[in-house]
Amino acid sequence: MADTSPMDLYESLEAQGGKVRALKSAKAEKAEIDAAVQLLLKLKVDYKQTTGQDYKAGCPPSEDAAVQDNGLAADGADEADTVNPWDVSTTNAKGVDYDKLIVRFGSSKVEKELVDRIERVAGQKPHRFLRRGIFFSHRDMHQVLDAYEKQKSFYLYTGRGPSSEAMHVGHLIPFIFTKWLQDVFDIPLVIQLTDDEKYLWKDLSLDECHRFAEENAKDIIACGFDVNKTFIFSDLDYMGSSPDFYRNVVKVQKHVTFNQVKGIFGFTDSDCIGKISFPAIQAAPSFSNSFPQIFKGRKDVQCLIPCAIDQDPYFRMTRDVAPRIGYPKPALLHSTFFPALQGAQTKMSASDATSSIFLTDTPKQIKNKVNKHAFSGGKDTVEEHRKYGGNADVDVSFMYLTFFLDDDAQLEKIRQDYTSGALLTGELKKILIETLQPMIAEHQERRKQVTEETVKQFMTPRPLNFNF
Ligand code: TYM
Repeated sequence: MADTSPMDLYESLEAQGGKVRALKSAKAEKAEIDAAVQLLLKLKVDYKQTTGQDYKAGCPPSEDAAVQDNGLAADGADEADTVNPWDVSTTNAKGVDYDKLIVRFGSSKVEKELVDRIERVAGQKPHRFLRRGIFFSHRDMHQVLDAYEKQKSFYLYTGRGPSSEAMHVGHLIPFIFTKWLQDVFDIPLVIQLTDDEKYLWKDLSLDECHRFAEENAKDIIACGFDVNKTFIFSDLDYMGSSPDFYRNVVKVQKHVTFNQVKGIFGFTDSDCIGKISFPAIQAAPSFSNSFPQIFKGRKDVQCLIPCAIDQDPYFRMTRDVAPRIGYPKPALLHSTFFPALQGAQTKMSASDATSSIFLTDTPKQIKNKVNKHAFSGGKDTVEEHRKYGGNADVDVSFMYLTFFLDDDAQLEKIRQDYTSGALLTGELKKILIETLQPMIAEHQERRKQVTEETVKQFMTPRPLNFNF
C-alpha cells in the first residue's frame, strides 16, 4: 500500500462503501456481501495506517500533510524559515528558501514548462514576474489551463487587509500580476478587503478599518483594473448584504475544527473567537456562488488566487474543505516576497515604516530611503568593489529592480556590471531611484483620478460584463 496516496485510498473506500450498500439493497448472495465487507475493512485499516485518521464517509483526507504546517520554524530547526500571514523571516541574506517552502507547503514549482504553457494559452509574452520566477509556486494551474483550453473559463480572486491608509510597493506585486492575468485571459475578478480581519487583529476601530478599506480600494483601482470585470468589496459591507456569501462562510465554519485552525494558523486558547472563525471569511470568495450577481448562482466556476505565499495557509484550509462542501478547489499562484529595505531576511511590511517605500512617498523620500536604508551587496570601499565586485544575490536595490525593471537585457547587464565591480553601489541605487520615482509618481497621478464615484462603482454588487 506504500505507493497509494491518501486520496486514492479514500476514493477506493468511497467506491467500496457504495458497492457494499448496493449489494445489500439488491439482496445479493451473503458470500458476495461478506467478501465486499472484508475488502472494505481492509481498506479502512490501510487508510488509518497511511493517514493516521479514521475513514469517515464523505470526508476526504487533508490534501497533504502540509495542511497542518503553521509556517513556523520547527523546534530546533534554526535553519527553517518562518512564513505565515503575520510573520516572514529567515536568517539567510538571500531571503527565504523558496524551494524548501514548496516542499513544506506541498505546492508545486512554477517550472519553465508551465510558463511556456501560459504563454501559448494566453497568446502573450509572459509577465516578468513569471519570466523571473517571482510567481514561483502554484496549485492546480495545469488544471485551470486544461479547462480554459476547452472553453471553460475561470475567475480571479485576490485581496488586501486594510491596516493603514498607505500601501507599500510590496503590496502592488499581486495586484500588478492580477491585472495582467485579467487582461490576458479576459476574466472577472473579485477583490476582498478584509476590514473585519484588521479590526480583529489590530488596535483599530471598525470605522477606521472600513475607511482604510475605501482608501486602499483607490490604490487598487489605480493599478488599472477594468470596472466592467472587477468587483471590490469590504467584508463589513458585503457580509451583511449577501446571504449567499454568508451561507458559504457558515459551511466552511462547520467543516473546520478548532484543532485544525490551531494547527494551521497557530491560534492559542487566548485568541478571540473572531480570529478563530475569520479564515472561513477569507475562504468564501473562492466559491463562485458567493457572488450570485456575477455567476448567476453557479457554484462550479473555477477560481484562481494570485497572492504572496504568506496567504497560503488560508487556502490550504479552503482546498481541504472545498470537496467536502461540493465545490471545486481554488487554484493558486504564489509570489515570493518583496524584501524590506534592510534586507531579504524579512518582507517589506507596513508596520515598519523604515522598511518600506509607500505609494504616498515623494521623489525625495524615495531617494533618501533607498540611499540610506537599502541593504547593499557592495564592498566597503570603491577600490575593493572595483577589484572584487558586488553580490547581487543579497543586494536589495538589485532585487527591487528584478521586480520592476521590465527589460531583461538591461537587468542582466546591470547584474553583470555589479558583479564584476564595473557598477558601484551608488550607481546601482541611482538606477533604482530613477525606476521607482516615475513609477510611483504615475501611480499617484492615476490614484488622483479615482473619484468617490469610481470607488462606489467598483464596490457595488452588480453583474459583470461576462457570460459563463
Ligand atoms: P495583506 O494586506 O497583508 O497583503 C495584500 C497582498 O499583498 C501580498 N503581500 C506581499 N507581496 C509581496 N511582497 C510583500 N512584501 C508583500 N506583503 C504583502 C499578500 O500576500 C497579499 O496577496 N488577509 C489578507 C487579505 C486577503 C487576501 C485574500 C490576500 C483576503 N483575501 C485573497 C490574497 C488573496 C491580507 O491581510 O493581505
